[in-house]
Amino acid sequence: MLQPFLQTLFRCLTAFKSRSFANIPGPTPIFPFGNALDFKTAPTWVVLGNYAQQYGGIARFWLMFRPCIALNDPKSIHQVLSDPDPGARSAGTDTRRCPLHNNPIYKFYKDQPRKALRPMLTDTNTFEAAVSDENWRDLKQNDPFSMDYCRDWLASQIDPLQTFLENGIEELVAESAVQGDLLAYDVLQKLTFDGFSLATVGQVFPNEVFEQFNTMCETGTIRMTRSTLTNWMIPQTPHDRTYQKASKAWFERFDWVVRQQQPPANSLLDWVARKGGTNFDAQKLRNFCAGVYPGGAVSTPSAIASVLHLLDRHPEVRDALRLEIEDLWATPLTLERLETCPQLDRVLRESLRLLPAVPFFMRSVNRHKATELAGHSIPANTPIFMSNWYLQRLSDRWSEPEIFNPSRWDEETCRQNDWGSDYFFPFGRGSRACIGQHFARYFIKLTLAVLLAKYEVIFADRPNSSSDDREFFFGVAVPRQLRAKFVASGSH
Ligand code: HEM
Repeated sequence: MLQPFLQTLFRCLTAFKSRSFANIPGPTPIFPFGNALDFKTAPTWVVLGNYAQQYGGIARFWLMFRPCIALNDPKSIHQVLSDPDPGARSAGTDTRRCPLHNNPIYKFYKDQPRKALRPMLTDTNTFEAAVSDENWRDLKQNDPFSMDYCRDWLASQIDPLQTFLENGIEELVAESAVQGDLLAYDVLQKLTFDGFSLATVGQVFPNEVFEQFNTMCETGTIRMTRSTLTNWMIPQTPHDRTYQKASKAWFERFDWVVRQQQPPANSLLDWVARKGGTNFDAQKLRNFCAGVYPGGAVSTPSAIASVLHLLDRHPEVRDALRLEIEDLWATPLTLERLETCPQLDRVLRESLRLLPAVPFFMRSVNRHKATELAGHSIPANTPIFMSNWYLQRLSDRWSEPEIFNPSRWDEETCRQNDWGSDYFFPFGRGSRACIGQHFARYFIKLTLAVLLAKYEVIFADRPNSSSDDREFFFGVAVPRQLRAKFVASGSH
C-alpha cells in the first residue's frame, strides 16, 4: 500500500525532470530516495550490472531527486571515456581553454569524484584535470610516467625492488608466525606503499606517512560516497581536523622531498633530474610525487590481494605459475622477461577481468549542453555511471565468465580483448585511461614473482565469503576482510 503511494509521489514531484528520460528504461523510483536504496544493499558495480541485465545498454535511475544514467554498452562507454574526439581540434573547433566544465567542445566532464578528491590530489594532478582540455594534455605530456626513459627506469628498479620485496615478505612471514592470519590487503598495501616510495622518491618513509595517507583516503571515501548524492553539499576542503593535520604533514613531506639538492640515486626523481623532458616546476613535481599513492597505492594492493586469493583457490594454476617463476629467476631477471612471462601475464589479466580493482567510472554530461548517447538525448549535467565489472563478465563475450581460467587468454583472446578495449578495461579506456598502468602491472608482476618463488600465502576464508566480497574505498573495490598467513614454501 505504502510502496505504490511513494512511487506515485516521486513520479508527481519529478514529472518535469522525468520527461527528458521518458524513453529510457530503468528501475521504479520511490519517494524520497529514488533508487538510492539499491546502492545500500549491493556494491555500486553490482547494481550497475543488475541494471544492465534488466534494462540493457542504457538505463535511467535516480539518486534522490537526481536522474542518472547507467551505461553498459561498450560503444557508448568508449564515446564517453574518449571524449573529446581527437579529430575535433584539427577540424577547427573552438579550442579556447576553459578551466572547468562548460567548454562547448567537451560533451562530458570529469567532475565526480573530482571535487571529492581534489584536496587529496591538488589541481595539478593528471587524474584531477577536469576535462580532456589543454591543462590535462599539458599535465599528461609532462608527467614523468609519460617520459621515454620510463621503461629504462622500470628496468633499473628490478634489483632494488626485488631486495625490498624479499625483506618485506620475510617480515610478513615472521609476523604471521607470531600472530597467525594477517589482514591480507592491509599488509600488502603497506608493502606497496613502501615499494612505490622506494621506486619513485628513493626512500621508505616512517610509518606515520602511511597513516597520513590512509587518513586522507578515508576522508576521500566519505566525500566520494556523499558526492554521488549531493556533490554541491561537500565543502571544497574537508573541515575534519584529523584530515587537515594529515594532509598538511603529507604535502610538507613531499615539498621537502622535491627540494632535496640531490634526489636519491636511481629513483624516478633522480631520472627526472638527470634526463629532464618535463616542464614540471617544483610544485607540479611535488603534486606528481604525492599523487602516485592516491593513483595506485589502494588499487595495486587490492589487485595483488585478489590475485593471491584466486591463486589460493586454484592450486593447479598456482603450481603451474610457480614452475614458470622458477624459470624466471634461473637467470638474472630483465624487464622484457618479466613483462612477457606468459602464465604470469594470463593470471594477471584473468584476475583483473574477474575482479577489476577499479570497477566503475563516472563522468557528467556538459554542464550547459545536452548530448546524444545510445540514440537518446541526455540532458546537460546528467551523471553517467559506467562499469567494466559487468562487461568483463558478460556471457555473450566470455565463456563461463564466472570461472577463473587464465588459460582463456590465448593469443587470439588477447588480441580481441586488449587492455582498454570494449570488454576489458580494468585501467579505464580512451584518452583518460590510467597513466600508471605499466608501472602498476610491472609492480604486481614483480611482487608475485618474488612472493611465489619462495613463499606461500594461505587464505583463511570465511565460510560464506564470495570472491566479490569487496568494499568501496577511495574509488577502488578493496577485499578488506581477507585474512591470510604468509609462510615460507614447503614449511607447512
Ligand atoms: C592496479 C592498479 C591500478 C588500477 C586498476 C588503476 C585504474 C585506473 C583507472 C580505471 C583509471 C581511469 C579512471 C577514469 O577514467 O575515470 C585510472 C586513471 C589514472 N590512474 Fe590508475 N590505476 C592503477 C594504478 C595506478 C598507478 C600506480 C598510478 C600512479 C602513478 C595511477 C595513476 C593514474 C592517473 C594519474 C590516472 C588519470 C589519467 C588521466 O586522467 O589522464 N594509477 N587508473
